[in-house]
Amino acid sequence: MSTVADTLRIEEARKEIVQLNSNSRGTDQLMEGITRILHDKMLKYNWVGFYMIEPASNPPVLVLGHFRGAMTPHTRIPLNQGICGAAASSGKTVVIDDVTGDPRYLACSLETKSEIVVPVFVRGKVAGELDVDSHFPSAFGFEDREIVEFCAQIVGRRLEQE
Ligand code: SME
Repeated sequence: MSTVADTLRIEEARKEIVQLNSNSRGTDQLMEGITRILHDKMLKYNWVGFYMIEPASNPPVLVLGHFRGAMTPHTRIPLNQGICGAAASSGKTVVIDDVTGDPRYLACSLETKSEIVVPVFVRGKVAGELDVDSHFPSAFGFEDREIVEFCAQIVGRRLEQE
């Protein structure tokens, strides 16, 4: 359950991200800044990272981009694997309250208990995704989903302008 303090933190993070979006020079800087703000500001976001679909690979594969948190063994994820593959192939946000109960889950850290993955769309097609892991079960409520989706959306819009 989210507290008033959680809501305030999300509002602060959103303000910083809006500012970052106007000040950053390109998508790369925007993505780096989003991972930094979400990881530093949101206390339960223990790993935050982008995976982008490698344009040259066939079948398509998600490649780790900017991230904050411990290094993950999963730097390249095919679209038919993991929660990451599920979000990219369905084009839908996936929220997992208890990763131990999901057979698709690819472990990044033994401490991870819950995860949210949000696709990044560019001209209506999935181009990548924003993945957040938490050491706390059920860490991603409605407001969390909203801010992570907002971040994925501004990255998609920026990529459309490049
Ligand atoms: N847990 C993800 C893999 C990426 S790590 O969490 C960073 C998955 O199941 O696809």
